[in-house]
Amino acid sequence: MGGTREGLHRRSPPMSTAVSATKRVTVNDLRRMKAAGEKIAVVTAYDATTARLVDQAGIDCILVGDSVGMVVQGHDSTLPVTLDQMIYHASSVRRGLARSNGHAHLVGDLPFGSYQAGLDDAVRSAMRLVSEGGVEAVKLEGGADYGDVIRRIVRAGIPVMGHIGLTPQSVHKLGGYLVQGKDSEKAQRLLRDARELEAAGCYALVLECIPTELSRSITRQLSIPTIGIGAGPHCDGQVLVIHDLLGFDTGVAPKFVKRYATLGETIQAAVQGYVAEVRGGVFPSEEQSYHAPTLRIVTAEKESAQPGSVGRPV
Ligand code: KIV
Repeated sequence: MGGTREGLHRRSPPMSTAVSATKRVTVNDLRRMKAAGEKIAVVTAYDATTARLVDQAGIDCILVGDSVGMVVQGHDSTLPVTLDQMIYHASSVRRGLARSNGHAHLVGDLPFGSYQAGLDDAVRSAMRLVSEGGVEAVKLEGGADYGDVIRRIVRAGIPVMGHIGLTPQSVHKLGGYLVQGKDSEKAQRLLRDARELEAAGCYALVLECIPTELSRSITRQLSIPTIGIGAGPHCDGQVLVIHDLLGFDTGVAPKFVKRYATLGETIQAAVQGYVAEVRGGVFPSEEQSYHAPTLRIVTAEKESAQPGSVGRPV
């Protein structure tokens, strides 16, 4: 088949390959944004195309979340996600950003089992996610108990984003995906965890599914940015899973989700249109068809009777 791959596969606008001086968002920028009262917008991405699109839309930070296990792989928890899979998705996102001169800060989740068993294990996992996955920082779930793990990873030169409140990797311990810190004692413990994580060297902290009153108090008491999901409006930034934000699901969403599009419906309508056109012989039309008017093709019978002869076009 003739033509270049670029010529034939125009599925999306070509990514720019020009070298530009686009500045990446750094941990220092995020700290400065908190100090200046500028809100930080974070979203998840798991592939190159989505990374390019959300970056060009102006996102400050992309999280390659282990939520990939639920929204891409179809599991009912994040627990089966492996470090190799996180590296695969992170490196896809990094390539998407690189090819479009992306500026977003890139964070990758350390998945379940990659940092809980020991300090050396945790440092090695974080190093792989940075060197092979191309992330600038790692995120891990857990409170004060993870102070040592965080210190060791930070000492290796890798920024760590903490994550407290509803920590999905502990779903079985928590007894479900439930709002955390609803009574004063548990709220006090989460506030202590937040302080300890800052002291251990975290540069930012995700607060998931906790009451607004608690997230406001944590945000005020920390000098590092807090990034909320289901934690109300007082956090320094917000994060959403991209599939939730875009409305891939058509069912009832958790209370903290706001859908900014209804892509689930859009995709279904588009594919229904495609199915109908294929069945009706409408697609492909002339517009999507190639021609070679000078082509001569010999029928099978003539070809076997006179090998090498040029016969009647079919
Ligand atoms: O895995 C993930 O996407 C996350 C965010 C929801 C914070 O941890």
